[in-house]
Amino acid sequence: MTRPDPKRAQLEHEYSTALRDCVAGGGELALSHAYELGRMAAGTGIGVVELAAIHDNALKEVLGDAAPPDEVDQFFAEALSPYEMTHRGFREANERLESAVRELEAFSYSVSHDLRAPLRTISAFTQALAEDLRHQLDERSRDHLRRVLAAAARMSDLIDALLELSRISRSQLGRHRVDMSAIAVSVIEELRRRDVTRRLGATVAPDLIVEADGRLVRILFDNLIGNAWKFTAQVVSPHVEIGSILSDGEQVFFVRDNGAGFDMAFAERLFAPFQRLHSDRDYAGTGIGLATVRRIVERHGGRIWADSAPGAGATFYFTLPPA
Ligand SMILES: Nc1ncnc2c1ncn2[C@@H]1O[C@H](COP(=O)(O)OP(=O)(O)O)[C@@H](O)[C@H]1O
Ligand SMILES: [Mg+2]
Repeated sequence: MTRPDPKRAQLEHEYSTALRDCVAGGGELALSHAYELGRMAAGTGIGVVELAAIHDNALKEVLGDAAPPDEVDQFFAEALSPYEMTHRGFREANERLESAVRELEAFSYSVSHDLRAPLRTISAFTQALAEDLRHQLDERSRDHLRRVLAAAARMSDLIDALLELSRISRSQLGRHRVDMSAIAVSVIEELRRRDVTRRLGATVAPDLIVEADGRLVRILFDNLIGNAWKFTAQVVSPHVEIGSILSDGEQVFFVRDNGAGFDMAFAERLFAPFQRLHSDRDYAGTGIGLATVRRIVERHGGRIWADSAPGAGATFYFTLPPA
């Protein structure tokens, strides 16, 4: 239900009074008063579209079906044109920006996609060489070929991650009731199945429900819980907790672990592609996971941030639309 806004009601009343005076007496004064009202409205957060509605209502009230005098029409065009210009300026700049982003995304998608074929060729022929020459090559040369193959495999992982990132920006967003608790539990089970040697304690709060794209929420938890899994590899009793808190009346979800943590000075950077704080030797990865997570959250209109300290675990907080 929308409640009538007192500011707007007041403005509406004063505006129609000013217009009535102006139409009745043709007074400059009334016109400039209405003009002032228009300027005031811009300061109170009443937008151009709403102001136009107020103007139309006032006209109807004052004139009924009669055509407005030219001076009233002209007044309106002049009084509001600065706002309309700004409004249009914003809209046009926004459209240009959106189209530039779309172009860039299409570009990065096709680049990533086109890099795959030559990479497959490099892998395949290196593999063939390694097999053909396995008796002729010394250990050093065999090691070189292994490194070429490992680098090609890593590049292939990077390309896959980039393609996923770009797919997330381009795909249509579904909106359904999503049970995040169930998704989190299933992600944890999957991780445990894949590596039965690891023991990860887990607590998942029940009934974490949002209105979102379930497929993307799954990718979000794959990445956040995957990170928790990875960065707790070297602690004694690794644990991950998934839950929510209430902050200023808003439900904020979190994924918390007791792993390696990081220095908060770098916290913002982690959400950009390819940014990693830990060495590849200690913890493997592409550095695209958190960029993907952020894009998923932002596509839903949510926010994401982190809290951590070196050696003290990490917590990733995010919001998604409530169900
Ligand atoms: N749970 C976590 N604990 C500690 N550091 C983390 C955690 N999650 C992310 N990070 C840091 O942020 C970086 C980027 O994360 P991400 O984009 O998922 O890349 P990746 O997992 O491939 O390294 C990681 O390399 C790590 O330095
Ligand atoms: Mg990751």
